[in-house]
Amino acid sequence: MDGGDLILHNLRLAVIGDLHSGEDRASLPGSVVADLLEGLVQHLNEKIEPDAVIDLGDRLNCSDREADLRNLVKIDSVLSHLQCPVYYICGNHDLENLDSSVYEKVLKRKLENRSLTIKGFRLLLIDSQDPVIDGVGGSVSADSLSWIDTEIGESSEPVIVFTHQALDDQDLEENMHFASMKELAYVENRLEITKLFKKHGNIVAAVNGHLHWHSVSLIDNTVYISVPSFTETWNKYEKIPGAYSVIDFDSGGMTIGNYRMQPSVLTSRVAYSFCGRYSKDF
Ligand SMILES: [Fe+2]
Repeated sequence: MDGGDLILHNLRLAVIGDLHSGEDRASLPGSVVADLLEGLVQHLNEKIEPDAVIDLGDRLNCSDREADLRNLVKIDSVLSHLQCPVYYICGNHDLENLDSSVYEKVLKRKLENRSLTIKGFRLLLIDSQDPVIDGVGGSVSADSLSWIDTEIGESSEPVIVFTHQALDDQDLEENMHFASMKELAYVENRLEITKLFKKHGNIVAAVNGHLHWHSVSLIDNTVYISVPSFTETWNKYEKIPGAYSVIDFDSGGMTIGNYRMQPSVLTSRVAYSFCGRYSKDF
């Protein structure tokens, strides 16, 4: 792509995922999520000041319809205090007891595939539960594939895509959730999606949750980023970490910072250059 006509401003996204709010489950004590999330909202508003927050899904430790509704309302009410827009996508656990129409009513927004432009970057929020595979894995419908093809093809901006399940194959041997069901870590028809990335060549980042850990890989000029779960303790942390990522983009490249709240610390930072693809003065 010729970046000559593009005007890219600094874009700062805060990304959270896999909140698993609700009843306590082994490594995911969901009952303490909302309180810590309040702290994160305050921190983001006062210190990080992102342009937008993206929630990558699996907001709920599902139990029954009533409890799920109650928890969803609670999480949405906490995030409504953000001083920037928040965009939701759904994970496999979000729709166990609530169908997407109920979900959309509660959140007062559409959850279908969405495309938005912020500060010169195109963000694609992709529904990868269409359908869910074996209750865990993801897939993207034929209609979505053609929507992705059109959106990417028509985008003069660099594109950042968001899915719940991963699009890049990763070594999952040490992931206690997915070591024994590796194929369900991913979007099943991911190769059809990444073929479109190759065809158009303007995808700078593909961001997912679901795996609960952090991972970064660079494949064909696209940086694949797995954002860690806000809540996952791996049965080892005494408290939920309150993990989140801050991803900064500008015309030169991107920086991914991973933070946790308990204790408050920056755990890793990774930077990538676009190698002059989007700036004349590289
Ligand atoms: Fe998930």
